[in-house]
Amino acid sequence: MTDEPLLLRALRLEPTPRPPIWLMRQAGRYMPEYRAVRDRVSFLELCRTPRLCAQVMADAVGALDVDAAIIFSDILPILIPLGFDLDYLPGDGPLIRNPFRAAEDLSRIAETIDPDQISYIFETVAETRRVIPRRKAVIGFAGAPFTLASYAVEGGGSRLFARTKTLMRSAPELWSRFMDRLADAVAVSLLGQIASGADAVQIFDSWAGALAPDEYRTFVAPHTERLLTRLRGKAPVIYFCAGNPALLPEAARLSADALGIDWRLSIREACRIVGPKFAVQGNLDPTVLLTDKKTIRAEAARILNAAGRRPGFIFNLGHGVLKETPVEHAVELVRAVKEFALSPS
Ligand code: CP3
Repeated sequence: MTDEPLLLRALRLEPTPRPPIWLMRQAGRYMPEYRAVRDRVSFLELCRTPRLCAQVMADAVGALDVDAAIIFSDILPILIPLGFDLDYLPGDGPLIRNPFRAAEDLSRIAETIDPDQISYIFETVAETRRVIPRRKAVIGFAGAPFTLASYAVEGGGSRLFARTKTLMRSAPELWSRFMDRLADAVAVSLLGQIASGADAVQIFDSWAGALAPDEYRTFVAPHTERLLTRLRGKAPVIYFCAGNPALLPEAARLSADALGIDWRLSIREACRIVGPKFAVQGNLDPTVLLTDKKTIRAEAARILNAAGRRPGFIFNLGHGVLKETPVEHAVELVRAVKEFALSPS
């Protein structure tokens, strides 16, 4: 089975000749090929055009020669069939014109979604699988219930998540019902992506780090686990909970296969907290890619020396590629990680 993607072996905690590498947000505005596509179509239109999504991802995988292709899509369009009016404004990021703020909002939100409403995501998975070489994994993805809820409640991006936390604390039952709906909609999406050919899936909890561990445990973990339970046995799941290393022990109680680690704690410490049962993915600070090739190699070596030989280690950034990143710096990082294979252990 030499064609089996390295990522899948790592996710099963099997030894690999070198750690697999891919980069969160590896396709995007830092790539000229992506900007050329975006000159012609809006972001939402792009997300709804599987052929273009597959092309954008294949361009990125071709340029970087990473070991996995995360499908090109976004975490927020799933809010549309749930009843939210989503738009992406140039420069301002996502906007939801009818945010979720009170009990009466639950009645206008769909109880569940029909797979047909997001068939374009499944077609993107199938098309991506068709154009990406077999030895590279195709990763499906979705937003975690908390991160989706934060956009739905705030109406867009946020720094403090004040409305989200207020709803969560002052209306815990309403919050719980809303989070369950989000978890179930995400399950529909991820199960469909797996059925369409995704080898593994990643759940992005980009903003859960805004919470303290106790609150995460009370208001978030049960809903994340509800989602993970639906996915069990279908495909390996990577749970990426960013922003707050104090949540890592909480994440390590969930039934994911791998945990994503941001850059806010050392990979050595992260591996210690997580223990031997999970694959571990991360954790290069994305701003390192703004420096120079020598620094990039040195920082990559630091992580590889600490975790590169641990079964189940997957090299990645600690969050997405920044739009100011020179493409050749991302290419250099991938090269450096692949050369680690050749160095004697
Ligand atoms: O290679 C890839 O990973 C591309 C696929 C991808 C996108 N978004 C494309 C995108 C993935 C995996 C995402 C996930 C995503 N989307 C997250 C979780 C990851 C993270 O960064 O924490 C979040 C929070 C979102 C929500 C979102 N989508 C925001 C906040 C924005 C605007 C700001 C930004 O980062 O650009 C988007 C738009 C978006 N999603 C773009 C891309 C390439 C930029 C759209 C454009 O202007 O062309």
